[in-house]
Amino acid sequence: MGAGIAQVVAASGRRVSLHDAAPGAVERGLTGIRRSLEKLAEKGGAQPDEVLARISAVDELVPAELMLEAVVEDAAVKEELFRRADALLPPEAILASNTSSIPITSLAAVTGRPERVIGMHFFNPVPVLKLVEVIRAVQTSDETAAAIVALAEDLGKVPAEANDFPGFVSNRILMPFLNEAAYALMEGVAEAEAIDTIAKLGFAHPLGPLALADLIGLDTCVAIMEVLHDGLGDPKYAPCPLLRQYVAAGRLGRKSGRGFYEYAA
Ligand code: CAA
Repeated sequence: MGAGIAQVVAASGRRVSLHDAAPGAVERGLTGIRRSLEKLAEKGGAQPDEVLARISAVDELVPAELMLEAVVEDAAVKEELFRRADALLPPEAILASNTSSIPITSLAAVTGRPERVIGMHFFNPVPVLKLVEVIRAVQTSDETAAAIVALAEDLGKVPAEANDFPGFVSNRILMPFLNEAAYALMEGVAEAEAIDTIAKLGFAHPLGPLALADLIGLDTCVAIMEVLHDGLGDPKYAPCPLLRQYVAAGRLGRKSGRGFYEYAA
């Protein structure tokens, strides 16, 4: 998602520094950005080279007006990154997280600028989907929220504001749906294709829940269910054992080539 976010920010005319700790990740991100920009250019979008020229790969966080973090859904990893960003970015910079479920209030609390920390949650594929869920931590100032709402609009997105409860709004609703589809498969209610066909044709969803879980990443789905389960304390949010089993087997969805379905490399 980091690549998609970098793409839409650069397409709006802003300069972007793209950083990833994993070797090769930025290069893979840039390849994906080029592919996406080529599709959009066919429909009258900006020239790929023009947008890519505004994105630089960097080996470490660099001073900027805004950090948009999209690392793995692990609170400790995110907190460490927010501490580092707090030390390296100018004091007036806003630190935003694309987290789907980690509490923004806890990320804000590890920084010396909690009023400038906020959730800016994009949806996959970022260049296509219009929604940005804007999540205010308990500490977030009105100025920070207004700046991020204005930025989302300037990126051509539609912001919707939510407060910092587990899963916010989007995943409080979406993840139990995907988890229940995994239970239906595990219990033999129907085959994967039938479950997805029912959602696609019966509810006019563009993707069925199992295909969507593969797109999001089954490890991410389990991590988000755990946040809902821990944070809301209700057993109805327990991750489906089949999801856990697939993750243990390395079937993470599209990104690993196999989840509920198989994908060509
Ligand atoms: N960049 C640019 N264009 C893209 C693209 C990308 N990355 N991905 C798709 N497109 C374009 C395609 O080129 C195509 O354009 P045309 O209509 O002009 O041909 C159009 O989008 C539709 O794509 P496809 O024809 O390939 O397939 P589709 O109609 O099934 O659409 C989809 C693909 C946009 C992914 C659609 O299936 C969809 O919206 N699915 C639901 C996705 C969803 O629910 N996402 C939310 C996930 S939750 C999340 O992200 C956050 C979280 O917290 C977990």
